[in-house]
Amino acid sequence: MGKSVLFVCLGNICRSPLAEGIAKELIRKHAWDVEVDSAGTGRWHVGEAPCENSIKVAAEHGIDISSLRARQVDKEDFLNFDLLVALDDNNKADLEAMGAKNVLKLGDYGYDGLDVADPYFFDGFTGFREVYSMIDVCVQTLFKEIEYNTCISKMNTA
Ligand code: 4NP
Repeated sequence: MGKSVLFVCLGNICRSPLAEGIAKELIRKHAWDVEVDSAGTGRWHVGEAPCENSIKVAAEHGIDISSLRARQVDKEDFLNFDLLVALDDNNKADLEAMGAKNVLKLGDYGYDGLDVADPYFFDGFTGFREVYSMIDVCVQTLFKEIEYNTCISKMNTA
C-alpha cells in the first residue's frame, strides 16, 4: 500500500504548495507510490492559486504549481494521511490543537529543525529562492526517510 503525506502551512498559497510541487516531481521521477497534498490551517485563501512568487520560483525549477488551489486542513485529513508535515512551529501547534497526532516538522529533515519562514510577508522575490531551496532540501531528505520506511515506524513506536 502507498503512503500519503499532507504538507501544511498557514495560507496554503506560498510554502506548502511549493512542498507539494517539489514532492510530486520527486515522486514522479522515482515512480514512488506516495500520495501528496497540501493545505492551510487558515481559510483566507481557500480556492486561490498559489501566490505569484511561488509559481515563479517553482517554474525556475521546471515545476508548474499554477493549477493547485488552496484548501483548509480538516480533521478528516488526520485520518486520511499517514503523515502531516508542518512548515513551521505555529502550523504544528495549530494541527496538534485540532487533535492531530502524527505531525512532523519539515525543517527537522536537513535543516536543524528551523521553521520555513513565511515568504508572504517578504518584500520582493529574492527570499522565495531561499525558501524554495530550504523546502527542496527538506523534502528530498524527508522522502529518502519515507522510502526507507523509518519515518512511519518511528511514529508508530513513539
Ligand atoms: P503560506 O503564507 O502560509 O506560506 O501560504 C501565507 C499566506 C497568506 C497569509 C499568511 C501566510 N495570510 O495571512 O493571508
